[in-house]
Amino acid sequence: MSSETQNVPRHVAIILDGNGRWARERGLPRTAGHKEGCRAVEQTVEDAARLGIEYLTVYAFSTENWKRSAEEVSALMQLFRYYAKRLLVIAKKNNVRVKMIGERSAFAQDLQDAIRALEEETAQNTGLTFLFAVNYGGRDEIVRAVRRIGAECAQGMTAPADITEDVIAAHLDTAGVPDPDLLIRTSGEQRLSNFLLWQLAYAEFYFTDIYWPDFDRQELERAIAYYNGRDRRYGGVKDV
Ligand code: IPE
Ligand code: IPE
Ligand code: MG
Repeated sequence: MSSETQNVPRHVAIILDGNGRWARERGLPRTAGHKEGCRAVEQTVEDAARLGIEYLTVYAFSTENWKRSAEEVSALMQLFRYYAKRLLVIAKKNNVRVKMIGERSAFAQDLQDAIRALEEETAQNTGLTFLFAVNYGGRDEIVRAVRRIGAECAQGMTAPADITEDVIAAHLDTAGVPDPDLLIRTSGEQRLSNFLLWQLAYAEFYFTDIYWPDFDRQELERAIAYYNGRDRRYGGVKDV
């Protein structure tokens, strides 16, 4: 099926997985898989922009990934540093707006500055919005939101009875972003691993066995074709 004949989901979320296994199968260090994985992210941002997807969210580092070896964590931080700069060029070229979701205060100051520059210098772009989830955890995001709502209640700015689903959504890192329509996870794993717990309530799930570094435009189009074959009922009933 060609992409022109398809209904493109407005928001695609991806749990990129399998970088380590991709590298191991080639006798390479895990870091080599992460490098190829970053290249695949770059490519996917460009492909999503060309396909007319409005929002792309990519899960690159979870609040649980700090458990990995110091070497792997530091290699990942170095890659984020490098790709934050490259992404700025790609974002400008493709009219992409970049935003980071997750708890950024855990990062070194220079990385936080690079992330802020990436967001500020692309804020006026009008094409794809690329949400980059680093040091992101769905539960951590909900805890941070609840703390802020609690503080607003304590200050008398709002009352508990006025807390609605919209209020909670507006305090999440994804405030203002529509919920994902399609979730993709690579590498054969079929779990959420703490990704967008609130926002994925009604997303369609697409799982593929390929490792993230091998993900390409054809794979993205395959996921979109799958999405097009789904009947989204949102709890209601539809005539067939
Ligand atoms: C995904 O690949 C990248 C991150 C979670 C940072 P993995 O590093 O999890 O690769 P596998 O699952 O070990 O193959
Ligand atoms: C999920 O991948 C997190 C990211 C893609 C950033 P993991 O490889 O960390 O997930 P688990 O440990 O297999 O659940
Ligand atoms: Mg993994």
